[in-house]
Amino acid sequence: MSILFYCEGDDGQLLQTFRHRLPDHVIIDWSCERTEADPSDITAAIVWMPPVDFFDNTPRLQTVYAFSAGVDHLLLHTGLPSQATIVRLRDAGMAQQMAEYALYGVLHFQRQMGLLRSAQRQKHWAQDDIKAISAAHVRIGILGAGALGLQVAERMALNNYPVTCWSRSARINEKVRCVNGEQALGDFLNSSDVLICLLPLTDATTGILNAGLFDQLPQGAFLINPGRGAHLVEQDLLDALESGRLSGALLDVFSLEPLPEEHPFWHHNDIIITPHVAAQSLVDESVDQVIESIRTIERGELPDGVVDTQRGY
Ligand SMILES: NC(=O)c1ccc[n+]([C@@H]2O[C@H](COP(=O)([O-])OP(=O)(O)OC[C@H]3O[C@@H](n4cnc5c(N)ncnc54)[C@H](OP(=O)(O)O)[C@@H]3O)[C@@H](O)[C@H]2O)c1
Repeated sequence: MSILFYCEGDDGQLLQTFRHRLPDHVIIDWSCERTEADPSDITAAIVWMPPVDFFDNTPRLQTVYAFSAGVDHLLLHTGLPSQATIVRLRDAGMAQQMAEYALYGVLHFQRQMGLLRSAQRQKHWAQDDIKAISAAHVRIGILGAGALGLQVAERMALNNYPVTCWSRSARINEKVRCVNGEQALGDFLNSSDVLICLLPLTDATTGILNAGLFDQLPQGAFLINPGRGAHLVEQDLLDALESGRLSGALLDVFSLEPLPEEHPFWHHNDIIITPHVAAQSLVDESVDQVIESIRTIERGELPDGVVDTQRGY
């Protein structure tokens, strides 16, 4: 069996690592070896951002290992064979980074760092402008209770923040409160001083961060979006900041990346932007996980992280 390989941005090191770790497999570099490969031998693929013609000539492809946690890009690929099982990364070192990123945003809000930064720029000693708020009074709501959402929530709970996760189906977790379904969304939003979006991008979640949702948050709430850019209706965020409904936002993902130079987010006082780096795939952990999934499938079992293509994640 052969594995077709393409991971955008790889300088050859990742490919070499897989070849070294899977000596019993032929790994074909799609970029330069695809024409020499026998298509009937290719039963699996390892991918990140595969080109539009990547899946041409792969009639026996059975499994696609996504080298990412999110699979929204992959599911939109027009050539993706409908019979293929898709396996994605779960956590693989990303949850720890995501928890750090989210904590940074929560502290920015709680410790009023935006106000302090602008006071510094004006050489204003803002001691009397700051009101101490204890962690116990900063209610955190996390959209999503998956591999990342739950670990971020547990980290917040360790830091004494009251935290609630919202998901599609019911989740039970000893350390954090979990609610689920549309009927629970209103109360969840009403009591989220900081809202963190860790949903996958699907038809159901596209544009979920919109004016209607912001209106249900407490006045002056803070938004953290490391999910996907298309979760957010960007103009609605600008309007919510203008009206004071939201006090600020930390954004890692955007509907267009890289963010265009003329985009208003670059200069907005109440928006902190980061270039899609909240949680990056750690090579060793991710390679280990893909290899474990390959071995599991070869034993005829189902690995963790199989994507439900109907649900979209
Ligand atoms: N910025 C970055 O650097 C970065 C890095 C990695 C990942 N991400 C993003 O983070 C996302 C989440 O990753 P993950 O590994 O935690 O995903 P996951 O394990 O699949 O968890 C997704 C969670 O979202 C919930 N959900 C999905 N659709 C929903 C809906 N319509 N209504 C309510 N809840 C819904 C799921 O509910 P159930 O529990 O009921 O299934 C689940 O709890 C990824 O898809 C990716 O877009 C960003």
